[in-house]
Amino acid sequence: MKIHHTPVLLNETIDYLITNKSGIYFDATLGFGGHTEAFLNILNKDAVVAATDVDNNAFSFSKDKFIKDDRARLYNFNFSEIDIISKIESFGFFDGIFADLGVSSYQLDNPGSGFTYREEAKLDLRMDKSKVVSAADIINSFSEEDLADIFFQYGEERNSRRLAREICRKRNEAGIETTSQLTEIIKRVIPFKNQNKTLSRIFQSLRIYVNDELGVLKTFLDKSVGLLKKGGRIVVISYHSLEDRIVKETFKYEMLDCICPKEYPVCQCDKERRLNILTRKPVVPSPEEIAVNPRSRSAKLRAAERV
Ligand SMILES: C[S@@+](CC[C@H](N)C(=O)[O-])C[C@H]1O[C@@H](n2cnc3c(N)ncnc32)[C@H](O)[C@@H]1O
Repeated sequence: MKIHHTPVLLNETIDYLITNKSGIYFDATLGFGGHTEAFLNILNKDAVVAATDVDNNAFSFSKDKFIKDDRARLYNFNFSEIDIISKIESFGFFDGIFADLGVSSYQLDNPGSGFTYREEAKLDLRMDKSKVVSAADIINSFSEEDLADIFFQYGEERNSRRLAREICRKRNEAGIETTSQLTEIIKRVIPFKNQNKTLSRIFQSLRIYVNDELGVLKTFLDKSVGLLKKGGRIVVISYHSLEDRIVKETFKYEMLDCICPKEYPVCQCDKERRLNILTRKPVVPSPEEIAVNPRSRSAKLRAAERV
């Protein structure tokens, strides 16, 4: 299998994440192993990197790639199950937890994986193929209003209502099963110059919904904070404003040591401060990195430390 995926913000990730070269690390989004490989290269022989990916192709590829390195412990789990992986490995706590959210260049470029509207494929968009509901199920069965909400909420698409109306009209004539069927409907509604942006927003919104990407991110972040050693770091790269907002808000909430209403004279909550934010503003790729790897352009890295 030929893979072209350049790890994003690699040096910045390493600088924030690795504080102990003999530590225990977690890569929540293994992909084709770009970041994991770089971590293993600078870590000592007694370090461990547990890494997971829901995508079967990514998992199998990386399993072969790291087969000779027993410091790499690889899983085909959702990253929201980080606590289960930690238990299986009897780790206790991590020195560093890392996530590079979204999909890989391979998933986007490979017509067989069905993540791109540019190629004919089944309308699927499930990262984990054992999940029951695909994008086609949603497009063919959800109400017009629910479809419009998905397009607006997760794709910030202004024409969400018109698109949902047209999809519902067309699906009554024949089911919508492929990427090209959906693409054709969208192209009929949207003027030529805006078509690509709208297509990518609609496919992205369906992908986020099908994989419950925001829900699993919240669960993952919450569990991760509790699984970090004191002084351990969490580093997250996101590519979408909704994901970035969740990371930012979670880190801010975890900085608070009291959540009582202002009018309480004495604190009555049990809230404890669990994180210190290390990046007041998100770290973004340099113009040089964007020139070499244009897909890095929307990346935002945030890092925090367990107190
Ligand atoms: C941007 S790629 C990671 C690339 C990787 N850092 C590298 O350099 O090779 C994101 C990966 O995360 C995986 N992924 C997305 N959501 C996931 C989840 N909830 N649990 C586990 N893996 C997930 C995707 O399948 C994809 O392979």
